Amino acid sequence: MSTVHALHSDEASLVLEHDLARGLLWRHCGARVDAEQLVPSAETRGPAPFSLNQDIGQALVPPSGLGWFGPALVELRTPSGESLLFAADETRVEQDDGHLACTVADSVAGLTIRLEITRLEGGAFRFATAITNDGKAAVSVAALASLQLPLAAPSQKILSWRGRHNAELHECIEALPQQRWEKVARQGLPGHGGPPGLFVLGNGTGWHQGIAVAVQLQWSGNSTFAIERHDEGYWTLSANASLAPGEVVLEPGETYAAPPALLAISVHGRNGATAQHHAAIRGMIDWPRGEMSPRPVHLNSWEAVYFRHDAERIGQLARSGSDIGIERFVLDDGWFKGRRNDMAGLGDWDPDPETYPHGLAPLAQDVEAMGQQFGLWVEPEMVNPDSDLYREHPDWALSLEGRDQPTARNQLVLDLRREDVRDYLFGKLDAVLKSAPVSYLKWDHNRAHAPLGGAAQVRGTYELLARVRAAHPDVEIEGCSAGGGRSDAGMVPHVHRFWTSDNIDAVARVQMQREFLAFLPPEMMGTHVGGSPAHVTGRRHALPYRCAIATMGHMGVELDPGTLDENERAELARWIGFYKRWRHLLHGTACLLGEGADDLLWQASGTASHMLLYCIRTNPAQDLRPQPVLLPFAADSAEWDVRLLELAEEPAHSFPRAAIFHQMKEGPVRFSGSWLANAGLPTPVQKAESVAIFELKRA
Ligand code: GLA
Repeated sequence: MSTVHALHSDEASLVLEHDLARGLLWRHCGARVDAEQLVPSAETRGPAPFSLNQDIGQALVPPSGLGWFGPALVELRTPSGESLLFAADETRVEQDDGHLACTVADSVAGLTIRLEITRLEGGAFRFATAITNDGKAAVSVAALASLQLPLAAPSQKILSWRGRHNAELHECIEALPQQRWEKVARQGLPGHGGPPGLFVLGNGTGWHQGIAVAVQLQWSGNSTFAIERHDEGYWTLSANASLAPGEVVLEPGETYAAPPALLAISVHGRNGATAQHHAAIRGMIDWPRGEMSPRPVHLNSWEAVYFRHDAERIGQLARSGSDIGIERFVLDDGWFKGRRNDMAGLGDWDPDPETYPHGLAPLAQDVEAMGQQFGLWVEPEMVNPDSDLYREHPDWALSLEGRDQPTARNQLVLDLRREDVRDYLFGKLDAVLKSAPVSYLKWDHNRAHAPLGGAAQVRGTYELLARVRAAHPDVEIEGCSAGGGRSDAGMVPHVHRFWTSDNIDAVARVQMQREFLAFLPPEMMGTHVGGSPAHVTGRRHALPYRCAIATMGHMGVELDPGTLDENERAELARWIGFYKRWRHLLHGTACLLGEGADDLLWQASGTASHMLLYCIRTNPAQDLRPQPVLLPFAADSAEWDVRLLELAEEPAHSFPRAAIFHQMKEGPVRFSGSWLANAGLPTPVQKAESVAIFELKRA
């Protein structure tokens, strides 16, 4: 006897079979299917040679150590360290449209696992797994996967990311393994390879078509993603937040909940899976007053002044932004007591008495009077040994008795597992926020954890963030970790923006920003116009090109506008105006990526009837004439009116352009949707490092 339980989205189905003897078995996890007439697996799976007489399929909670030889969903130990089996003897399933809860009990071990799958707005599924100790003795949880599922036949490639400070999000594509593949974060945070997550692509999957399975964890600590081949010929994907030995010990009656995982399955390629993740993330962002306000243009002080703060200089910097359209001034590192360089001060969150003798209020009020919001950089989770805080509480930093405390950027990590540490930090942040009209925090975190603080450290950070948000619900927060070292779904409920990278070289940013968008939406992606040469790479890029690339996320400026000549200031102001005019199409909307011929990259953002299209050329063209760019999304409409809005490039030595581009500059040119999708939009000759921006409006 068996019953079928299926959860469907528009594009995908998760089909499970409740077999009384074997529990809740995976039958399908992929493109949408009709599963009402499902033949029981007992009838489709014949015997396999030299295998257990009792067939054990892949259950939602498989009996590891008792016949399931794939990766374990849960690993348990007795208090004396012996391993403890979990094998269900009772499975209960509750289901309604869009939600399935499976409660699996093991009466021998005295444990219950509850696994819930919820379909979210936009089509992704959230997996939440928890284990409860119903027995009489303590049990140590060594591992509990947030999600585990079979990857069936069409799976072919793994898409993941790695990175380092200033070189975030390098895309890696590998074949599915013959044995086992792992992506592991061990430094206490996800790191510069982006969110804990991966895509699995099918044969022939591209940006717009083919099957894509994409998983990310809602977690900002250590994690392991594993894909293991099963002898039966398919793979098992597991996503785990890591637990240190002995870290989670459940006393009778206690529960441990693994962080949730988000799963997207799309038949519309990478863009399809990304759209589902964007929708899931958007559902988790907690905007002040319940709604995203237009993302204000920032002026960030970091690359303009670094640590060279003085009240007058900073005032000048803020003023230099007001007549070019800046909407939020962010005072970066260097404002607090004793902070003249990165050797001292972290932990002492009071304005420096020499640089800001009257506190931050006069500056913040001036900034407000200029019509801008005032934002402030903090790095609460850290302490410099050279600080009053450390001198008073050396025991507040993460440490192991008898061991060195390795510093990184001359700083140590505070022990956020401690309530007194969190109370101190909350008190300091609360006081700063009350002392001046600060409506924005850039919350940084600039080093890996050594020693580690484990999962409790991550939860301590979440708790502190939540407490600050609850006390100051109108304050927005930007998550930063030496650039993009901690940009993930775990942080999303607490923050409103992520700083993508300290590398704001516009060429480097093109690829990085595309990769950022795999899981996180563009309105959360901090994108700044930097100086030329770029501080990190030393490369020079034309101002229009730098500006165009910075309009593709949440725009900011990270240079001193006072150092620009009049023409450059006017050009920067023009691009800020461009961003303000179009941000309603860039944020909270569909965001599609694609590739044209000859290395042309494109991004289209907007709605079903109104799109903004960026065509980006990085290297010089190889072909004699630019080939039209195919826009699959355009097929959804019969006709489109297309205008060329901008050609952002080095203005010197322009190349003559075909007549149609002059026409498209003057007014719209009409194309059929099928033409744009299948024959393509003509694109102008583009220099290296240039962006052509089009508006497409449904006719
Ligand atoms: C990190 C951030 C930068 C800046 C500095 C300040 O590197 O990523 O944007 O805030 O810290 O020290």
